[in-house]
Parts: sequence; structure tokens; C-alpha cells
Amino acid sequence: MKNLTLNKNKNVRKCRVCSKNISPFMTFGKMPIANAFLKKKDFKKEYFFNLMPCFCKNCYSFQLFKQPDPKKMFHKNYAFFSKTSKNMRIHFEDFYKWIKKTYLLKKKTPFVIEIGSNDGILLENFAKKGIKHLGIEPSANVAKESAKNGVNTLVGFFGKNIIKKVLSNYGKADMVVLANVMCHIPKINEVAKSISEILNKEGYLIFEDPYLLDVLKKVSYDQIYDEHVFIFSALSVKNIFEKYDLKLIDAIPQETHGGSMRYVFTKKLEITESPRLKRILEKEKKYKIHKSETYRNFKKNCEFSKVNLLKKLQKLKKLKKNVVGYAATSKSTTILNYCKINKNLINFITDTTPIKHDTFSPGMHIPIKPYKDFSEIDVDTAFLFAWNHKKEIMKKEKKFLKKGGVFLTHL
Ligand code: SAH
Ligand code: TMP
Ligand code: ZN
Repeated sequence: MKNLTLNKNKNVRKCRVCSKNISPFMTFGKMPIANAFLKKKDFKKEYFFNLMPCFCKNCYSFQLFKQPDPKKMFHKNYAFFSKTSKNMRIHFEDFYKWIKKTYLLKKKTPFVIEIGSNDGILLENFAKKGIKHLGIEPSANVAKESAKNGVNTLVGFFGKNIIKKVLSNYGKADMVVLANVMCHIPKINEVAKSISEILNKEGYLIFEDPYLLDVLKKVSYDQIYDEHVFIFSALSVKNIFEKYDLKLIDAIPQETHGGSMRYVFTKKLEITESPRLKRILEKEKKYKIHKSETYRNFKKNCEFSKVNLLKKLQKLKKLKKNVVGYAATSKSTTILNYCKINKNLINFITDTTPIKHDTFSPGMHIPIKPYKDFSEIDVDTAFLFAWNHKKEIMKKEKKFLKKGGVFLTHL
């Protein structure tokens, strides 16, 4: 367990939000890039870093001690395509309708920017209605996919350099929207400042991300991986964005990604906080989201969860059950590498994303197979790595359940 020890003296860095010194409260050990599915020939040159979460007592942000260089994660071979989930397609269509009805209806020719638009899952709804929009997305392969549906995308990382180009070519925006992206960007102050500059004086910023309170309560530690440099609470985002004249006025819980929060900010500082936001901030305080002891408890819960999971998998192995993984999610990389689960315990992982087929999982090198390899053989237990898509998957897997198949999760 050498790599699971912490060196408090050595592990000190500046908080990405407030620049105070922070240290990790635990380590998940040596981790590869969560979405770097690889071929056998690349095993030897695989990249690893220590996955260690920190909590800043000064600004209450939850962040990684170290994040790999974004260029290592987001590039022309990025493996995550948003549209692989039917329920997420529905979620984003609803998100679009809600934005239009609540914020854009009164505007004659609104302009919407999405940061991290991926394969266009949200913006294609705007494009279909002829609404002026712009996606900013560094992963060229997923951006290319979005163009097929009429989405206008600029390939690049959002930040102070790109906004000059956007302002001169498009002008200021009425709305900036992000889903599961703000938590990916390490230079959070630069992003907040740039968004504030790119919005007109009546503009709104809306983003949603996995919610810290859900992660802590459910012990869904698999939300912690390289891409998620932050996991936000309402308290932490309020602290970050209000410094840049973006006032937090609402927070709306979402079921996506196992528990997310949608935050609404505006440049119109006279707008008051919603009663719902006040309740959410109260709830966070009651759970002691601002106290270090909460994170010490979380660490214990993770360790307990790991022991439990390994016991279950070892028992299944003894019983000679055929155990496979269901969906090679980014989150699964943390579970597999933290718990050291390899192909002794899980035969293979099935996934519907073509780019992942005939590769191996990062770090633990479990083979990834197409869906037919799962549906055409006898599987006893499926480890549901996509537990956030449970509703959609249960509907699809009635046959598997009927013949006695069992789903297992680490939660
Ligand atoms: N919005 C989509 C995709 C989320 S995955 C959804 O909710 O399903 C995160 C996306 O953010 C990836 O497509 C990644 O390439 C992109 N991304 C990461 N860093 C970024 C940055 N600095 N600027 C813009 N996009 C970024
Ligand atoms: P996510 O949990 O990060 O959204 O990743 C979802 C992954 O799950 C993606 O690789 C596609 C895969 N998946 C399946 O293999 N089958 C399914 O039915 C669903 C919904 C997702
Ligand atoms: Zn801080």
C-alpha cells in the first residue's frame, strides 16, 4: 500500500480559487487518464499520476491536488461522446426548452455560447431552431460530430485567449451555458473573468455539474477522476463567481450523473436569490460542507466501500460466477484502480461506444468489448459502472434480469 500514504509536508499547493495553501485529505493512489482506453502496445508508456482530493478551508472548494495537463485529456481522440445515452439526449432537449422559455423568449435575436459542447447534444436543439449559437470545444473529433447536425463550433480551450476572437467575430452573448464542463477547467478564475467579459450586461451564466453533497452522501467517490478538477457545492460556486460580478440567483437539483446541480448566475445584480437557493445553502451548512471533519469522514467511507466491494467480488469469484463490467465509464477508472480490480475479478467490460471497442481499460487493462459480447453470452453478474444511467439500462436489460442476471454497484 506504499502509494496510498500521504506526505503532508511535501503535498502542499496553492488553492486554484483563493491561493491559500492546501493539502490532500486522502489519496486514491496511482491513477491513469480516465478516458485513455489503450491498445496492448501502449501499456508500457501509460501515464499515471496520484489522484488526491483536497478541501480548502478558506474558500470551501473541493479540488484535485494534481490534474494532468488538459491537452493529455482533451484531444482529437477523446473517447466520451455525450449522445451515447438516450436519457441524456432527452435531458438536454428539456434543458434547451427551459432556457428558451425562461431566459430567451423576450430576446429577438439571442446569442448563446456553450463551453464544452462535445458532439452537440445541447446546441443542436438551438441550431435546429435557427438560434445564433457558438460551441467552444477542444476535442476535435467530438466537435466534428456536432457539425453534422448544423452546430457551429470553434475548436479550442475556453479561456482568455479565445474570447478575443469570439468578441471580434460574434460580439457579446446573452447566455453562456456549460454542462459537466466547468468542473473540468483548472484556471477557474480566468474562466469566470472571461465569461463575465463575454456576457452582455443583462447576460446569464448557467452551468450544471456533479454535486458535491451527492458525492459525499452516496460515497460516489468514482466522480473523482482526472477530468473533474473540482466538485462544486452551491457555497463554493457562489464564492468563485461573485468576485467577477456574476451573482448566483438559483440552484436547481438534477438527477443526471448520479446527482447534479444546475446553477444560475446573472450580471443583473439587482435580481434577488431564489428561496430554493437559500434552502440549498442552508442544507449544505447543516451537512457541514464547510468543515474539514466532513472530508475526514468521507475518506473513511471510501475505505469502507473499497473493502466491501472487494469482499463481494472475491466471493463471486469463489462461486465461479461470470462477472463482467457494464459500461466503460470514466468513473470506472477510479473504482478499478483504487480497488485494484483487474481481469481476475472482472472478465471484460462491455460498452456501446465504438472508439472504446477492442481496447483495454486504463490502468487495470480489462478488455473492452462491444455490446453483443454481453448480450450473446451467459453473464451472472454485471458490475454497473454506469449507475447514473440505471433507469435507461434497466429498461434495456429486462431479458438479462429475467434469466437471473444480477446488477452490482459499489454504492
Ligand atoms: N457538455 C457535454 C460534454 C461533457 S464532457 C455533456 O454534458 O455531455 C466535458 C467536455 O468539456 C469535453 O467534450 C471536453 O473536450 C470539454 N472541455 C474540457 N476542457 C475545456 C475547456 N477548457 N474549454 C472548453 N471545453 C472543454
Ligand atoms: P458516463 O457515465 O461518463 O456518462 O459514461 C457513459 C458510458 O456508458 C459511455 O461509454 C457509454 C456507456 N453506455 C453503455 O455502454 N450502455 C448504455 O446503455 C449507456 C446508457 C451507456
Ligand atoms: Zn481556496
